[in-house]
Amino acid sequence: MCGIVGYIGLPEKTAEHDALAVLMEGLRRLEYRGYDSAGVATLSEGAVQSRKKSGKLVNLEEEIAQQPMRSASIGIGHTRWATHGGPTDQNAHPHLGDEGRLAVIHNGIIENFAELKERLLRDGHSFDSETDTEVAAKLLGTMLPEAGGDLTEAMRLASNELEGAFTLLAVHSDHPDQVVASRRNSPLVVGLGEGENFLGSDVSGFIDFTREAVELEQDQVVTITAADVRIIGFDGTPAQGRRFRVDWDAAAAEKGGFDTFMEKEIHEQPKAVEDTLLGRTDAQGRLVLDELRISPAELNEVSKIIVLACGTAAYAGTVAKYAIEHWCRIPVEVELAHEFRYRDPIIDDTTLIVSISQSGETMDTLMAVRYAKEQGARTLSICNTNGSTIPRESDAVLYLHAGPEIAVASTKAFLAMIAASYLLGLYLAQLRGMKFQGEIEDILADLHKIPAKIQEILDASDQIKDLARQMKDEPSVLFLGRHVGYPVAMEGALKLKELAYIHAEGFAAGELKHGPIALIEEGQPVFVVVPSPRGRDSLHSKVVSNIQEVRARGARTISVAESDDEAVSSYSESVFRVPETQPLLMPLLTTVPLQIFACALASEKGYDVDQPRNLAKSVTVE
Ligand code: G6P
Repeated sequence: MCGIVGYIGLPEKTAEHDALAVLMEGLRRLEYRGYDSAGVATLSEGAVQSRKKSGKLVNLEEEIAQQPMRSASIGIGHTRWATHGGPTDQNAHPHLGDEGRLAVIHNGIIENFAELKERLLRDGHSFDSETDTEVAAKLLGTMLPEAGGDLTEAMRLASNELEGAFTLLAVHSDHPDQVVASRRNSPLVVGLGEGENFLGSDVSGFIDFTREAVELEQDQVVTITAADVRIIGFDGTPAQGRRFRVDWDAAAAEKGGFDTFMEKEIHEQPKAVEDTLLGRTDAQGRLVLDELRISPAELNEVSKIIVLACGTAAYAGTVAKYAIEHWCRIPVEVELAHEFRYRDPIIDDTTLIVSISQSGETMDTLMAVRYAKEQGARTLSICNTNGSTIPRESDAVLYLHAGPEIAVASTKAFLAMIAASYLLGLYLAQLRGMKFQGEIEDILADLHKIPAKIQEILDASDQIKDLARQMKDEPSVLFLGRHVGYPVAMEGALKLKELAYIHAEGFAAGELKHGPIALIEEGQPVFVVVPSPRGRDSLHSKVVSNIQEVRARGARTISVAESDDEAVSSYSESVFRVPETQPLLMPLLTTVPLQIFACALASEKGYDVDQPRNLAKSVTVE
């Protein structure tokens, strides 16, 4: 997501390290995080100078070339991955407060920004952008008198009013000797120099200048001067950060110490799911999907949902079907976008088209959405990329907030798409009175427990990686699943094809006996996504029977099963355990071992998992 850098040096260091040059270098190092606009602010001659521009850093450089900035020894810089408000010049950071004397940049999502904005508007403030960041900037400005003009104290007071996730950095023209930052649930590290100090979203923001760093904890405010670093908690208590030395090279730093973006993104999944769920309920625990832009009346009239997507997103769509039909009793069809519009589908103005796309630019999906709109359908986009074409052209949007996905094959966006689909299903159930409020709250509570459970799977991934090493020469792997385990099996097979170039097929386990079982011969590896033993009817025992059927024909079975599912142990060569959850929510857990397996196996074969052959991240041709 957004990249953040801050710098302050002794004035005599300016010849060696001009603030603007240091910030631009930091922003270049943070480009890997993905962004759609960039900006900087420095302090010089008692005033803030700020430049910002949508698009890549080169646009910002051109802007600065046209309107040069005076040399400076203090400043902040930002690359923005749009969340609140599209990727425009106005929405780019920094945002100004205190009548232009204060510049603020931000990473994260401020959940209570709407009510704060209302309050500030009532108090006579005006806004130039649609961002939650500008609200934080104005709020910080209003705190200065209460803080006796002390920027650190004002930041502490403002941070206590903010809800959600944020890293904020601020500079003020009355305080040219300090950069003040604050952190809750979003990343921030301090870089220690000699006669200069740095701030960064991660160490790559300053790795060209120092390798000495300080890690902060949650809910802390840090003030850096050229000579000093001071940390306090949001309650005002002084605190110590943990000092460490960065021993990664610059390339590894971008990947957070992982060898590949794919591994990094697999490990970001707890946060991706958490961020997708963040800020979607009001104080009464009711779901509020603010960005939806389709009125409750129109949503109440929906008689059918058609989910349109391609690739991994289409498998998320199948999970969405199972959940939405079960919770809302609305018929849901799932269709590959490129098939949909060439078959004369039946659509009218009570049809809700739900497109799912990480990039928001997949041409097949875009064309299908346009076609459905022409036929009079309402269109809702579940998307990860703010301001991309599909959400722009849709009547409504539900953003994932999973952060940029760099590896071509999708991992964290898949889980976030599933989480967003659950939110949509529960929202429709709430709206149409298909579930009691308490039932919805119970499901939401279980959803909020998922990130910690994904983390448990990640922490125990050695067993999966060992198996991947053993299986690296297998020519073919099959995947079976039922109910919501079926799309997970398809996704497990797709990951193996995409990353490891191994022939892999995913089947509905019930379909096995109708053909695929002919493929089973001695030693054939078969992954089985086992439903919860606490789930529907006899689903679990049916799958256990399927395991026995393939084993009887020589298959080597690897089960992905809940931690207390003893029944599968005696029928499986290996069992990957996942923590328990509601049966419908299981894909958020059962997918993870299959991703780790495919990634590890492909790495074992020496393949580039971030850029698999023949594939593109965003397929913008039909
Ligand atoms: C490409 C990618 C897949 C992705 C699909 C849909 O084929 O290689 O990983 O699932 O596009 O992309 P979207 O951006 O629409 O989710």
